Amino acid sequence: MSYGLTTSLETASRVLNDGGVIGMPTETVYGLAARSDFEESVGRIFDIKGRPRNHPLIAHLSPEANPHLFGHFNDNAQRLADAFWPGPLTLLVPKSERIGMWVTGGRDTVALRVPALQITQQLLSRIDVPVVAPSANRFGKVSPTTAQHVMDDLGDAVDCVLDGGQCSIGVESTIVECVGANVALLRPGGVTATQIADVVGLAPQLTEGESRAPGMMISHYAPNARVVLVQSLDEAYSVASTNEFRGQRSEIMHYKDPADYALNMYDQLRLYDAQGIGVVLAVLPQPGGIGDAVIDRLLKAAAPKN
Ligand code: TXA
Ligand code: MG
Repeated sequence: MSYGLTTSLETASRVLNDGGVIGMPTETVYGLAARSDFEESVGRIFDIKGRPRNHPLIAHLSPEANPHLFGHFNDNAQRLADAFWPGPLTLLVPKSERIGMWVTGGRDTVALRVPALQITQQLLSRIDVPVVAPSANRFGKVSPTTAQHVMDDLGDAVDCVLDGGQCSIGVESTIVECVGANVALLRPGGVTATQIADVVGLAPQLTEGESRAPGMMISHYAPNARVVLVQSLDEAYSVASTNEFRGQRSEIMHYKDPADYALNMYDQLRLYDAQGIGVVLAVLPQPGGIGDAVIDRLLKAAAPKN
């Protein structure tokens, strides 16, 4: 049975401990969550999302949990954890035996994160193992940033959605791989490349396109509308008036502040889809800071789907 939307930590934690799958708020995006030690429940996450089983999941830890039980941290990983946890940073480190292969898609590394949102921490504190959660959208689609988004996409399939309000960051966490001497930025997010460089003393290596992390394929984060990237508002107006786009329902998406862009982008793309907009002309923000995360998601939203 589904409890639908709830603000009850009691309900959400009971459902998880009974083997259920729930919508879980975080400061980045909502996740589709299950206990990491329940192989069948984790399997349901893949089924609900339509996600291939070899695409590994992030394991979320409460601030009191000991991360060293689940992964092997070298100096760089430890420094990054000390600097940015709790927060929108996921660390990819060699996994310990406590993390099942069904979490990591058979890999010997695990993605770990300690979320900053208080209601998430309270939930995680009630579960005595890490909680795995990919973003709570269907595979390849736009991530949810409100509880209602999760209800809209997956309401029939989940056992409940814990409502933690609107996500304060709005794009997925930064993923940094710390294995051997390597510090690689696999996905830009709320913790920026500059912040990472300041902590580890070297610029993280950028892993673009077909990175080693499956699920970072070219087309991703895509709405139904076609997304066309432009460099400026002026370019957006002139592209909108070309033969190719005249007569189509198009909208210009633009925010001056890159943090506002991150916060609102997914909700806006969902609204455009609901309105039946055919073409979204997305004005790219300046690179740097959280602008890098926005650019990364827009490039993937604009990539040809197939
Ligand atoms: O902000 C976030 O990170 C959100 C919230 C819910 O925490 N979660 C999220 O999960 O975005 P997901 O599954 O949509 O993206 C996680 C990415 C995937 O591209 C996955 O392939 C990669 O992390 N990943 C996870 N574990 C990995 C591993 N062991 N090796 C390589 N890539 C891994
Ligand atoms: Mg995702």
